[in-house]
Formats: sequence, structure tokens, C-alpha cells
Amino acid sequence: MTRQQIQDGLDTQWAGRAIEYFDEIDSTNRYAKALAREGAAHGTLVLADTQTAGRGRRGRGWISPAGEGIFMSLILRPDMPPAQVAKLSLLTALATANAIALVTGLDARIKWPNDIVVKGRKVCGMLLEMDATPEKVESVVAGVGINVHQTQFDSEIAHSASSLDLLAGRRISRSAIVRAFLEEFERAAALDDEAMMRAYRERSATIGQRVQVIGLTGTYTGTAEDITESGSLLVRADEDDTVREVLAADVSVRGIMGYA
Ligand code: BTN
Repeated sequence: MTRQQIQDGLDTQWAGRAIEYFDEIDSTNRYAKALAREGAAHGTLVLADTQTAGRGRRGRGWISPAGEGIFMSLILRPDMPPAQVAKLSLLTALATANAIALVTGLDARIKWPNDIVVKGRKVCGMLLEMDATPEKVESVVAGVGINVHQTQFDSEIAHSASSLDLLAGRRISRSAIVRAFLEEFERAAALDDEAMMRAYRERSATIGQRVQVIGLTGTYTGTAEDITESGSLLVRADEDDTVREVLAADVSVRGIMGYA
């Protein structure tokens, strides 16, 4: 995968017009945040073949073996107040799922809040980091890690993770996925809120599922009914039939029927 391969035939106005490619880096998110602070343009993509200190959600790491995955961070300079920034997380998930589906033909779905699953297995994680004042978002870095050629996984995720090659039964091109991601991101970003949410709901693996919500104050079961524009999950609780708003930062939500 080279910068040239990705940019050849790339059909976008702003996404991926500038690409910084590294054979090895500590974390594309860390680097992209530094680049954004120095004034990098909206749509700049930082991409690496391997990361030595890839960052995951909840303070975890992200294993990033050379030649096997996609490790990328898109720099965004949205004209929006910090309160609306959750929309970018929905957009990133939608663009990634669409790109995977388009290139592989697989039924890629979004597991709330931020994983992409295929056949119930996690193939992709996302980590969005924001640089903002209370009034204004300076920049957002949308970090995406996709398992493409991996055939082996650490024992603690072996039951729940997979790769695009394994699921598609053929070798998937990493540059084709990156290109489709950039094109789908731009397309989804141009949709109005209603159309974007409709597209997101159609790609959701979580809506309609039975879930267990594990919060700070206790655990309950229910049915996931919807996802709001601010990125919360609406769950109808079994115990009192009320709809409760679940924020991604607060809890962990598990599908009752396995990982997804
Ligand atoms: C998760 O825990 O599910 C999120 C993983 C996000 C990993 C990606 S890989 C590219 C970017 N750079 C990082 O350091 N992390 C994100």
C-alpha cells in the first residue's frame, strides 16, 4: 500500500487530498493530533503500515502488525460546537462500514458505539479525539483500525475478532478500502442530518437487539430501540418498560446473543 496507490483515481474534493504515509509510527492518532495543532488542512490523512504504540478505546492498546491492517487517522476541522461532535463519530462509523461493504461485498454493520462487525466478528475499531475550547472545535482526529490480512489474534479477542480476508475468503486490497473510506466519508458528510441518520440506522447491528447495559450504578437488560443524533443509545428496559438514554462513555453494552 502506497500513497500513490490510494490517490490514483481517488474521487474526492477534500478527503485524502493530502496523505502522510509512514512505514512505521508510534500512533497515527498521536501524530495526526500534532499535525492538526500545526495547522494541517481539513481532510489530511495520516496512514501507517505498522504502529508501535497504537491506541484503542478505554486506554487499551491496538495491536498493529506490519503489512496486515489499515491504521489511519483523518484530520477534520468541522464548523460545529463541541456539543455536536458526536455526529462525526456516527459519520466515521457509517463511512467505514459502507467502504468495507462496497469493496468486499460483506454485510458490514456498526455495533454501537464504534465497532464494525461482520458476521458477528469485530473487524474494525475507531478512536475519535477532539481538540476544542468550550465554544469551538479546533480539530477532530478520526482514527480507524481495520483488520484486513490478519489470520491470528490474541487469545482474549480470538473469539470475537476477525479480518476481512478471513471473512471474504479472498485477499482484500487495503488501498481500495482506504480510497472507498475517503469517498464514503465525503459523501456521508454531505448528507443532511436526517438522511445521515437513516443511512446509519440501516447499517446498525445494535438497533433491535437484546442488550445488557453495564453501568456504574448497576446492570440491566432491555432492547436497543434507536440511536440519537448525539450518539446515545435508547434502550427499553425490561424491568419497567421505560426508554433510557445510554451514553457511550458511561457504560459497556453487550449483545445478549454473543459479542455483537
Ligand atoms: C478500539 O479500541 O476499538 C479503537 C481502536 C482504534 C485504532 C486506530 S488504528 C489508527 C488510529 N491510531 C491509533 O493509535 N488508534 C487508531
